[in-house]
Amino acid sequence: MKIAPSLLAADFLHLQDEIEKVNASGDILHLDIMDGTLVPNISFGFSVLDKLFPVVKVPMDVHLMVVNPHQWFKKVADDGAAMCSFHLEASGRKTKEFIDMIHAYGMKAGVAIDPDVPVKKLFPYIGKADFFLVMSVFAGFGGQKFIEVSLDRVAALKAEIVARGADTLIEVDGGVSLANVRAIKDAGVDIAVAGSTVFHSENPVETVNALREA
Ligand code: DX5
Ligand code: ZN
Repeated sequence: MKIAPSLLAADFLHLQDEIEKVNASGDILHLDIMDGTLVPNISFGFSVLDKLFPVVKVPMDVHLMVVNPHQWFKKVADDGAAMCSFHLEASGRKTKEFIDMIHAYGMKAGVAIDPDVPVKKLFPYIGKADFFLVMSVFAGFGGQKFIEVSLDRVAALKAEIVARGADTLIEVDGGVSLANVRAIKDAGVDIAVAGSTVFHSENPVETVNALREA
């Protein structure tokens, strides 16, 4: 399982130092963009993202928690992201179209769902999306408690992916800790996002390694 530190929990006064820690340990850098409309918070935007490309040495994974996400796909690609996800709650009937747009810009396409969206709503996109982002907290804030039923949701989604012989990956985001990372891996998760567990720890590099080895 890959570990994707989430920059949302980093010290924004020392962003370059924080990124160096991810370069030294993380598999992927997870970047949360929020608009205050789809989710009840605003994080950082493209003026921050623009600066990252030259210094980030791992693939960048942009998680768009915004309405009308498609208007930003090109910008996300131009900023060097390897992966880009949008929420099913924001895409509705345009989900397949949005996946195709992300692919056209040369990125891996992810479809995200909040904890109150049934996983079966992702089934039509198995084999079409490169990854599913299953939120294990309600999108909008770092530092929330992992919602335990997310493990069952991941297992059900994984079973369907395997049954269809597809290779769509599962990413989990929210409340990932050293205490639950093993169960998350066992449920079939391919990428675990971790914000506060990594950046609020004494030694983020060691914490990422510990999460990966758990
Ligand atoms: C929440 C974000 C997460 C957040 C996770 O809406 O999508 O990526 O950074 O933070 P932790 O790991 O602290 O729950
Ligand atoms: Zn996220």
